[in-house]
Amino acid sequence: MYRLKPTDNMTQKEIYDYIRELISQQLSEESDSIANMSNISAILMNTLSDLNWVGFYLLKDNILVLGPFQGLPACNRIKVGEGVCGGSVSAKESILVDDVESFPGHIACDSASKSELVIPIILNDTVVGVLDLDSPIKNRFTEEDRDNLEEIMSQIGRYLIG
Ligand code: SME
Repeated sequence: MYRLKPTDNMTQKEIYDYIRELISQQLSEESDSIANMSNISAILMNTLSDLNWVGFYLLKDNILVLGPFQGLPACNRIKVGEGVCGGSVSAKESILVDDVESFPGHIACDSASKSELVIPIILNDTVVGVLDLDSPIKNRFTEEDRDNLEEIMSQIGRYLIG
């Protein structure tokens, strides 16, 4: 089984290399998208520090519907254009929020969340869902997190949806 917790002396690059290795192992073993999104949520929750929620919302009939995740129960549906997740779908870009209280329209599913990173999952130039990460700490997410997770989602999006 996975040895999930990174050691204290690992750099961000080493942590993301490790995440890539775990995800690639998962995808080599399983083709079911629900199983893959479930275990990828668990991999991220247990390797990245200071998260209280991580998971997927999938675009169905032009609304984001909750998918596999780790954390407290969350909003079931989010309209395109609403909140950080819906904003990321409209913009077709990642959104990194240092302080959710200063993001107009932020949807508070868990009052513990203080900062947030949303990465759109794009297939054939169309947004099909988002990966959402929440932290109980302000300013938790960096451009390095964003760039690595964008790259990972662009590589594996086709294994997750459909
Ligand atoms: N905060 C998100 C809603 C989803 S939860 O964080 C899980 C938003 O504003 O879109």
